[in-house]
Amino acid sequence: MRQVTLIPGDGIGPEITEAVKAIFSAANVPLTWEEENAGQTTFDAVGELIPESLNASLNKNKVALKGPITTPVGKGFKSVNVQLRQMFDLYSNVRPAKTTKGVNTRFDNVNLVLFRENTEGLYAGLETFDERLQISDSIARVTRTGSEKIIRAAFEYANRHGCKKITVAHKANILKSAGALFLGVAAEIAKDYPNIQMEDKIIDNMCMQLVAKPEQFDVVVTTNLFGDILSDLCAGLVGGLGVVAGANIGDNMAIFEAVHGSAPDIAGKGIANPTALLRSAIMMLHHLDLKEEANRIETALEATLANKEECTGDLGGRASTTEFAQNIIAKL
Ligand code: NAI
Repeated sequence: MRQVTLIPGDGIGPEITEAVKAIFSAANVPLTWEEENAGQTTFDAVGELIPESLNASLNKNKVALKGPITTPVGKGFKSVNVQLRQMFDLYSNVRPAKTTKGVNTRFDNVNLVLFRENTEGLYAGLETFDERLQISDSIARVTRTGSEKIIRAAFEYANRHGCKKITVAHKANILKSAGALFLGVAAEIAKDYPNIQMEDKIIDNMCMQLVAKPEQFDVVVTTNLFGDILSDLCAGLVGGLGVVAGANIGDNMAIFEAVHGSAPDIAGKGIANPTALLRSAIMMLHHLDLKEEANRIETALEATLANKEECTGDLGGRASTTEFAQNIIAKL
C-alpha cells in the first residue's frame, strides 16, 4: 500500500486533517499516512521548525499532504512553506479555481488553473536591511531555468487537459529585465505547443480582468509574488479560502496543501471548513493515479456542498468540521 507523509500543521490544521483522514478511511483509499509535523507547534515542542524526521519521511515517501503553518509577521522564523518549497525544488504551485454548485459567489462560470512560480522572484530570500539608513532591498530573482520549468509545466498541463489558452501575467513594462525574461521564455516555449494560444497580460490589468470577466481565463502562469496575490483573488471568485486546493510540485516530490492559513481566529473551535484540504487531498489522489477514489470522494463532497445546511459556517451552514465530514462520508 502506498504511504504518504501527513503534516497536520498549526491552528486549524489538526482539525481539518482529522476530517480528511476520516473521509479517506471511510472511502477505503489504499494509502497509509506517516504523520510528521512542522511549524510553530513543532518548534514549541521540540525546538525545530522542520525536524529531521519530517525531512526523512518526505525523502522516502515523495508525496505529502500538509495543513497550514503559522508564520510570524516581520521578525521571527522564515516561512516553513517557503523553506519546504525551496529545499525540495517544488517549483510549480498549482491552484485550481472552479465555481462550485451551492457555494454562493458573484460568478457562476469560473474554471481556471493558476501556475505560480514557487521558488524564486521576490520570495528568493534575497533581502538586506541597512539599519542606519533605514533602507530595505528585496531582490526579485528570475532565472531562465526557473522560468522555463514553471512555464513548461503550465503548457504541459494545458496540453494534457485540452486547454486552449494560456495567459502569462507579468509586469514587463516596468520590470524591464525580470519581466521581459519571463515573458520571453514563455513566447519561446509557446512555439512547441501550436494548439495552445498564448496571450500576455500586465498584472494590474490581469487583476481587473479577473474580477470583471473571469470566465475568459483557462490556464494562467506567473511569477511568485504575483501568483501569491492572484491565487487568493481567484479563491475569492469561487467561494473563498476555505474551498480552494493547492499543490507544490517538483520533479521528484509533491506536497499538497490547502491555500488558506492556520486561521488563529477560529482554531480549536471545531468550525473550520475542511474542503480546501480535502480538495488538495483529491488532487493528491489524481497525482497518485487513484482516480476512482478521487472521483468518488469528489462526488460526495460536491453533493454536500450543494446543500448549505450540511456545510460549515463560512459557507452559510451550521455544521461543525466533524459533522461536515460525516455528511460527506454518508454520501460515499
Ligand atoms: P488565514 O487563511 O489563516 O485566515 C484568513 C481568514 O479566513 C480568517 O478569518 C479565517 O478564519 C478564514 N479561514 C481560513 N481558512 C478557513 C477554513 N478552512 N474554514 C473557515 N474559515 C477559514 O490567513 P491569515 O489570518 O492571514 O494567516 C494566519 C496564519 O497562517 C499566518 O501565520 C500566515 O503566515 C499563515 N499562512 C499559512 C499558509 C500555509 O501554510 N500555506 C498560507 C497562508 C497563511
